[in-house]
Amino acid sequence: MLSLTEKRLRTANIAHLLPQTRSCFAPIKDKLDALQDYLLGNSLSSTDVPTPVLRYVFGSGGKRLRPAIFFLLCELLGYRGKHLLPLAAVSEYMHTASLLHDDVLDNTTLRRRKPTVNSRWGDTTAILVGDLIYARACELMTAAGDLRIIAAFTQAIKRMSEGELIQLENLYNLDITEETWLKIVHYKTGELLAATCKVAGLLAAADERTCARLYDFGLNIGIAFQLIDDALDLCGKEQELGKQTMIDLANGRITLPIILLYQQGNRHVQEMLRTALQPPRANAAELQRIQALTASHNTVARSAERAAAFTARAQQELAQFAPGPAREGLIELTNLLLSRLN
Ligand code: IPE
Ligand code: IPE
Ligand code: MG
Ligand code: MG
Repeated sequence: MLSLTEKRLRTANIAHLLPQTRSCFAPIKDKLDALQDYLLGNSLSSTDVPTPVLRYVFGSGGKRLRPAIFFLLCELLGYRGKHLLPLAAVSEYMHTASLLHDDVLDNTTLRRRKPTVNSRWGDTTAILVGDLIYARACELMTAAGDLRIIAAFTQAIKRMSEGELIQLENLYNLDITEETWLKIVHYKTGELLAATCKVAGLLAAADERTCARLYDFGLNIGIAFQLIDDALDLCGKEQELGKQTMIDLANGRITLPIILLYQQGNRHVQEMLRTALQPPRANAAELQRIQALTASHNTVARSAERAAAFTARAQQELAQFAPGPAREGLIELTNLLLSRLN
C-alpha cells in the first residue's frame, strides 16, 4: 500500500510539490489540474497503442514546470482562449518525449520516482513511444493553425537534438569550455522553454518585440534550470529528486561544476580527473572523490551563482509587463527553481 504522501508525490505537479509557494500557483492551479486530465485523457485518444505505457508515463507526475510557466504567461498577457490546454500539452509532451529518449541515452532506471520506461519495457519501446509523443505534439501544434507556433516548436525540437549531439561529441572531454557547455544547455533545455514562452505571446497576439522578450525570458530560465539540475546531479538526493544522482559523471558528461573544477584545480586534481573520467565508466569510489572535490573547491556554488545570474536576466525581461499576481507568480516560481539547491 502506498502512503498518502507517496501517492501525492507520484501524481504531483509543481504546485502540489511545493505547497509553501501556493501563492504563485493561485492563478493557475485549476489549469494545472485540467492539464493532468487532458494529458491522461482525450489528448492521447487518437493513438491506439501502447496505452499502458502512455498511462504509465503521464500518470507518473513530473513537476509540469513548462506548462506552469506557460499558464502564468498566458494569464499575464490576458490569453484565455481554446488553445491554452492543447499548447501547454505540446510543451509537456515534447519535454516528456525528450526524457524518454534521454533515459535511454543515459541508461537510467529511475524517473519521477518510478522505473524508467526503458528499464521496464526496453529501449526500443522507450524510443518509439517518445517518437509517438513527439508526433502527437506535432499534431496538436498544427491544430492551432498558426505557422509561427509550429516554427517556434520545430526550432526547439531541432535544437534539442543538436544539443544532445554536441553533448555526445564532448563526452569525457575535460577541455570543454564553459561556453560550449552553455551552448549545449541552451540548446537541449533552454530552447523548449523559450519556444513555450514565445508561443504564449503569439497566442495573445503580442507584438514581435514582446514575443522576443518572452523567448529570452524562457531561454534564460531554461539555462538556469539545467545548471541547477546539473548541480543537483552532484549534490542532490535521489529520494527528493525521484531520479538517480551522479549519472552525468558516470556517463562522462562534463557539466559546469566539473569544468570549473578542472580549470581551477591544481595539477594533482587535473591528473586525478583525467585518470578517473575515462570510458566506459568511472568507478563509484572515484566518483565520490570527485564529488568531494567539487564541494571543497566550491564549484557547485559557483555554478549556482551562474544560474542566479541567468534567472536575474530572465526576470528583467518581465519588468515591462503589468504588475500583479501572474508576474509575481513568475518571479516567485523562478526564484524557487534556484532554491532547489538549498
Ligand atoms: C528534467 O526536467 C530534465 C531537464 C531538462 C533538466 P524536469 O525536472 O522538469 O522533469 P520533470 O518533468 O519534473 O520530471
Ligand atoms: C535532460 O538533461 C535534457 C533534456 C532536454 C532531455 P538531463 O539528462 O540532465 O536530465 P535528467 O537529469 O536526466 O532529468
Ligand atoms: Mg538524463
Ligand atoms: Mg540532469
